Amino acid sequence: MALYLITGGAGFIGSHLADALIARGDRVRVLDDLSTGKRENLPRGAEFIEGDVADAALVRLAIQGAAGCFHLAAIASVARSNEDWLGTHRANQTGTVAVMDAARAEGRVPVVYASSAAIYGNPDRMPISEATAPSPLTAYGADKLGSELHGQVAWLAHGVPTFGCRFFNVYGPRQDPHSPYSGVISIFARRFASGEPLTVNGTGEQVRDFVYVADVVRHLMGGMGLLQRAPQAAVINVCTGRATSLLELLAALERVCGRKADRRFGPERPGDIRLSLGDPAKATALLGLHATTRLDQGLAATLGLV
Ligand code: NAD
Ligand code: UD1
Repeated sequence: MALYLITGGAGFIGSHLADALIARGDRVRVLDDLSTGKRENLPRGAEFIEGDVADAALVRLAIQGAAGCFHLAAIASVARSNEDWLGTHRANQTGTVAVMDAARAEGRVPVVYASSAAIYGNPDRMPISEATAPSPLTAYGADKLGSELHGQVAWLAHGVPTFGCRFFNVYGPRQDPHSPYSGVISIFARRFASGEPLTVNGTGEQVRDFVYVADVVRHLMGGMGLLQRAPQAAVINVCTGRATSLLELLAALERVCGRKADRRFGPERPGDIRLSLGDPAKATALLGLHATTRLDQGLAATLGLV
């Protein structure tokens, strides 16, 4: 029974990870400032520390006795990163350094951390493999790329094993649907359930790689297992390799719910990326994992139908 620290563990992805670790018989300690996370997301038995991940002294305290750290705390809204450049930098990159520095002080605790497909920007070749040159277009993407560089330094200069997960479009239960910057699936699912119209930005032909949160959790846990067996610094894509257009997403929602959606077409979102499709081959090679949840299954779970 090992103890794991999860930063951002009261949020969407972190709370699913906390559930899975506790179900496996591990102990969980969560550090979260509850800026977007919620206390009620935490499973029974999880220890909770409320505070800022960029507070180095607090992170040192939080990591004490941990066999590993999953670092997910971040301001996940790209729009906010553009509005509050310096404030989000503190959470999204200084926070990462604080975690890795505390991991060093605690005796080289392995760190699995959240990166993002946002580090790639808008590449012209699909699917996107890890060999694609990073070219972030936002402060959020720049801080995630910076976090990866610190992940490499943590290992090379300080012997702290690190594993970065470049999440593509993650969806599932507990993803906050209320912000205009929420993921399209959580927005569509909420509006569909309450009978409100769904607005498609542009033609609906834009493509995403939607990965279900339970598959993401398996990659995070697999990454920790890898670091414990073979300490190193690595980064992987966390994606399905399956392309879904928004029109296909709408069709899947209608199939799963057995009724038609009230869809409207609005203007294209400024700066919207047309194509985002990841290559999962490296994750499969390193971890022996695939994101197996089919969109229909994942949507049904997101809508609370299963
Ligand atoms: P989320 O907002 O639900 O979770 C983030 C958590 O971090 C929240 O509980 C929030 O309260 C906490 N937090 C924020 N700033 C903090 C701070 N300064 N100190 C302590 N806690 C803080 O978002 P999520 O979707 O679960 O994202 C988890 C991670 O995955 C983030 O690092 C995010 O950037 C990354 N990510 C998510 C997606 C996606 O599709 N959801 C895609 C790429 C990357
Ligand atoms: C996602 C991430 C972002 C990351 C980016 C890079 C989320 C919320 N955002 O952005 O952090 O930087 O990947 O990989 O996970 N749409 C509609 N109607 C709506 C809402 C959205 O048509 O009501 C469209 C958008 O215009 C877009 C698509 O749906 O074309 C997906 O949007 P969104 O879920 O916001 O994700 P990304 O833009 O891919």
